Amino acid sequence: MSKLQALAGNVMNWVDDRFPATKMYKEHLSEYYAPKNFNFWYFFGSLALLVLVIQIVTGIFLTMNYKPDGNLIPGTNVSVAFMSVEYIMRDVAGGWLIRYMHSTGASMFFVVVYLHMFRGLIYGSYKQPRELIWIFGMLIFLCLMAEAFLGYLLPWGQMSFWGAQVIVNLFASIPVIGPDLSVWIRGDFVVSDATLNRFFALHVIAVPLVLLALVVAHIVALHEVGSNNPDGVEIKKNKDPKTGIPLDGIPFHPYYTVKDILGVAVFLVAFSYVVFFAPEMGGFFLEYPNFDPADPLKTPAHIAPVWYFTPFYAILRAIPSFLGTQVWGVIGMGAAVVIIAFLPWLDRSPVKSIRYRGRNFKIALVLFIISFICLGILGAKPATNLRTILSQVFSVIYFGFFLFMPLYTKNDVGTTPVPARTTDTNTQRQIGFAVYALLAVLGAFVFGKLV
Ligand code: HEM
Repeated sequence: MSKLQALAGNVMNWVDDRFPATKMYKEHLSEYYAPKNFNFWYFFGSLALLVLVIQIVTGIFLTMNYKPDGNLIPGTNVSVAFMSVEYIMRDVAGGWLIRYMHSTGASMFFVVVYLHMFRGLIYGSYKQPRELIWIFGMLIFLCLMAEAFLGYLLPWGQMSFWGAQVIVNLFASIPVIGPDLSVWIRGDFVVSDATLNRFFALHVIAVPLVLLALVVAHIVALHEVGSNNPDGVEIKKNKDPKTGIPLDGIPFHPYYTVKDILGVAVFLVAFSYVVFFAPEMGGFFLEYPNFDPADPLKTPAHIAPVWYFTPFYAILRAIPSFLGTQVWGVIGMGAAVVIIAFLPWLDRSPVKSIRYRGRNFKIALVLFIISFICLGILGAKPATNLRTILSQVFSVIYFGFFLFMPLYTKNDVGTTPVPARTTDTNTQRQIGFAVYALLAVLGAFVFGKLV
């Protein structure tokens, strides 16, 4: 042992006597045994962590130059907030990069999290004993939506202003308390400088703090019960009698840390492509009306939220007002999010992974994916009669997927029984998946052109 190693050992011992550093390292990395059959779906948890870090770091640097001030610069119709974003884009060294990383990061967060949730759905990762991981995940999802909504007001562009106007007004439709509640949220009778200041405070500190705490709880809960896997086999049921280590488990570090580096590299290539070559992403990541400063006297022709909210927005618009109130749409939209949290109790299937499920779940899942994508497309477009009817049909399918789940998942098992141990990669399955993914993208494209 070299002198340097001995010194490092001594320092580590000193730390360990005062703080459980080595214990934590072992518990969560070198002696956390994860199933050996993780596939690419298992990249998205660590990628979500990466995007979280990107958002926090770029957010800190943006805050150094951004000014949450909705007042107009004298002699112009441009606010200080809007101008401070332009200043970041044009004058601050590297400001454009930091801002595009943050705006792209917001959308990529949802890409990654939607795929992460979808993985949970196909492998039944929310089922017993992982219900709490799912609940923490859903709370994270709610926080993420709040965080994105609050952040979107800050550039104080046309879409920032009118988007906030539409969403805050939704609260006004709640009976009895609604009107007062919406004034309380805005801090004014209209979206104003007071609203911008409070949204800024919530966006930069309050919600991120809650988000971070929830992510810690999410991972602690995961490490308590152990990870699920593509076969839905509980690896803790098959332990080496001598060592007590799961036979199908491998240490997270170095095996999955190295595997995750591959995921990070591929992700960063895609992320950098968007940041450097397509930061607006055709108006999907940065909406064009937001390049115009907020004008309370000029409503944009078509107000649409950013793409990650559009499936829920389509549900909101699909529900007509009834008994003289629009609150039903708001309830429908809220229910569309909240119902996902109940999956652990709605799914009665005796097996976890889609690999060993019966036909019922597979058909229901395909219908659900189609409805979610189509609602997303419909929510991004101005409403017409046809689009409203289609949104209503897809909303029914969306809710049907959840509400009828206890019925169609009961006894729904496939012809292949769940194996006792995890299985190896299957090329045929991978090709099948690639074909389905391609069909989904193609289908979405055609549907988008048709409606
Ligand atoms: C900031 C957002 C999030 C972060 C950073 C995050 C992080 C992680 C990480 C690192 C893992 C372990 C690696 C993996 O299984 O991929 C994980 C697992 C999991 N997450 Fe998340 N997560 C987030 C959001 C969510 C959401 C929104 C849900 C669902 C509502 C969710 C549900 C799950 C489930 C069920 C597992 C266990 C998966 C399994 O063992 O098969 N997560 N998460």
